[in-house]
Amino acid sequence: MVSRIIPVDAFDLVIFGATGDLANRKIFPGLFRRFLAGQMPDDARLIGAARTEQSREEFQAQIRAAIKEFVSPSKQDSAQIDAFISRLHYVPIDARGEAGWPELKALIRPEVINAFYFSVAPALFGDLAERLKAYGIAGDDARIVVEKPFGRDLASARALNKSLAEHFEEHQIYRIDHYLGKETVQNLMAVRFANILFEPIWNSQYIDHVQITVAETVGVGGRGSYYDKSGAMRDMVQNHLMQLLCMIAMEPPYHFDPDAVRDEKLKVIRALQPVPPQDIVRGQYLGWHREDQDTPMPGYLEDCEDPHSKTESYIAMKVHIANWRWKNTPFYLRTGKRLRARTSEIAITFKEPPHSIFDEAEGSWQPNQLVIRLQPNEGMNLKMMIKEPGPGGMRLKQVPLDMSFAQALGEEGADMPDAYERLIMDVIRGNQTLFMRGDEVEAAWAWTDPIIQGWEERGDTPRPYDSGTTGPDDALMLMHRDGRRWRHIK
Ligand code: BG6
Repeated sequence: MVSRIIPVDAFDLVIFGATGDLANRKIFPGLFRRFLAGQMPDDARLIGAARTEQSREEFQAQIRAAIKEFVSPSKQDSAQIDAFISRLHYVPIDARGEAGWPELKALIRPEVINAFYFSVAPALFGDLAERLKAYGIAGDDARIVVEKPFGRDLASARALNKSLAEHFEEHQIYRIDHYLGKETVQNLMAVRFANILFEPIWNSQYIDHVQITVAETVGVGGRGSYYDKSGAMRDMVQNHLMQLLCMIAMEPPYHFDPDAVRDEKLKVIRALQPVPPQDIVRGQYLGWHREDQDTPMPGYLEDCEDPHSKTESYIAMKVHIANWRWKNTPFYLRTGKRLRARTSEIAITFKEPPHSIFDEAEGSWQPNQLVIRLQPNEGMNLKMMIKEPGPGGMRLKQVPLDMSFAQALGEEGADMPDAYERLIMDVIRGNQTLFMRGDEVEAAWAWTDPIIQGWEERGDTPRPYDSGTTGPDDALMLMHRDGRRWRHIK
């Protein structure tokens, strides 16, 4: 097969927060995989910057260990690791002071693409942006990449946007939502807009409802104190689930172009209706003593070290979009920690045919459903009614047309890039399609804020749920009272 890997142009990439968890777990291992794939030009320069005083060699040893831990054993080629490591530089830097900035400037080549990844607390975004400009390090074509959380409400997101805008133009700012880098999320656009099959029925006339599920088995563990200030609504719904919803609900953009796509997503976010309290269920996981483990796993309240915490580790909600396409088609969203299985999927349930010609279909009829699996085993499943084989009349049966991308695409599908590596390469290519625009983030907070304020005003307390289950029972009721059911989490 002809390789689809197109090397990017020469670049210098600076990662602020280079000793942090994200850098070790995702950013550098992802860059290494792109290097192995042959996408990195020979003279690409990767520069770690962080507060820690350490030498270049010590930093290289840190990244070598990260590659060992977070890159699959089949890709551990020591000659390649050496070649990758030799591109790494390190600058100890003070984001709020002056130390390290002249040294950083000396390493940056203005004639190549310059990108600066802010893998640091948002409180430092403004300081970094200011110094990159003050020291003449970032020119008019430089790109900055910022990580979530992008604010914790509309006011703080606006303040962040404003502080970045003082030094950089919108076309230079890449706000990461790593869900947009997932293969299947982009595939949603291909499925919708590169096929004629679905688009004519992609509306409330034919779609009964949509379910978006992002279930995780992990608890909040070591990041309990951070998570407790956030909760599932801020940590997952305002960004990741909202982006998935936009991909399903948006109108066809006139072109696959960053602003055309983001304009359409923005329209969806602005059309989201306020959500009444009865359409939301919040939960907190309880401790768990699994049979196969000696020690019990702590519950949410212990994990976050606040026995009175009212932060949710689970949320389920019914959302309406007030526009022509989606009037009366609810979108049910749910996400939670410590659930039965790790699974992310979007399920689109279609309506009944207007008239059944099969008497015997009564009772056995089931709606068509298109399920798009994000993880694990990315793929699609279309549930259809067919005739049950054999004699004995016209009995109907629902069967899945199941496609796993890994199987359907062979080698190519089995080696799909991780979300981060794809997004970092998009930054170097200067393609903002899969990044959030400032107005999009603000619109998402404008919808989220009143929901969270409502909980605070009412003193809303999340319902406890058992770890290893599908969440609080009340979430089942959210569906049942509408005559619908959640898909099984498995
Ligand atoms: C992060 C959240 O943005 O996404 C985490 O902060 C969550 O709480 C993670 O676990 C989920 O990402 P993924 O790619 O593992 O589904």
